[in-house]
Amino acid sequence: MRPAPADVPRVTTQTLQNMKAEGVPIAMFTAYDYTSARLFDQAGVDVLLVGDSASNVMAGHETTLPITLDQMIYHAQCVIRAIQRALVVVDLPFGSYQGNSKEALASAIRVMKEAEAHAVKLEGGHDVLPTVNRIISAGIPVMGHLGLLPQSIHNYGTYKVRAREEDEAARLVEEAQALEEAGCFALVLEKIPSALGKRVSEALDIPTIGIGAGADCDGQVLVSHDALGLTTDFNPRFVRRFARLDKTITEAVQAYVNSVRTRSFPNKDESYE
Ligand code: KIV
Repeated sequence: MRPAPADVPRVTTQTLQNMKAEGVPIAMFTAYDYTSARLFDQAGVDVLLVGDSASNVMAGHETTLPITLDQMIYHAQCVIRAIQRALVVVDLPFGSYQGNSKEALASAIRVMKEAEAHAVKLEGGHDVLPTVNRIISAGIPVMGHLGLLPQSIHNYGTYKVRAREEDEAARLVEEAQALEEAGCFALVLEKIPSALGKRVSEALDIPTIGIGAGADCDGQVLVSHDALGLTTDFNPRFVRRFARLDKTITEAVQAYVNSVRTRSFPNKDESYE
């Protein structure tokens, strides 16, 4: 059942702005389903990102490209039903906004209407500015995303750290400022040198949320499956495993299988007379 509107104050885009002003780091985490989102919200995550990383960790694709807008909306609906406090941001998936700003707005409206999300996120700098403008003009908050852009992976050909050279770093700072001017309420910075993460964070009034962008960003985000140790085959330097749920789950399931095989489950108390 959907939680009743609570006394818990909701996190809004203004809350995030205030957190930056007060120097309080923002904790963002990905979520794709009701049960996990409920736990993450109760644990105090400020922003739940329904990331297109669902394509990898939920669907098993190699990249984020195959996931569809319908699938993202399904995941977002599951997450939205679970939360009482967090701001829920939904990734616009590859192919749902790159065509033109009219299509992009239609995709963003679907996310807001069908999932009742709070904001959308999209990847890119100068190229997406008309789109960002158009979505924001419709009253939909937009989070930007610069640095490594997983939806453009076939363009880069590699997931290595971006903007190590000054010309790419300067362009990234310029694009960050342009996204802020266009009205983005926050900006994800993915896999860039820490010094650049700091430089962008100091240059902007809106909060930056880093993933592999160093400790000086205004907040941090991790893919929940990575942070909880559900994924084991993705080991970039920026991932910290806060738990090893792979082990916990494997051991629990082995114990279950063993109990079934030995007929020690169910016991009398777990059975009906
Ligand atoms: O899809 C996702 O999980 C993301 C994060 C990596 C920021 O965009």
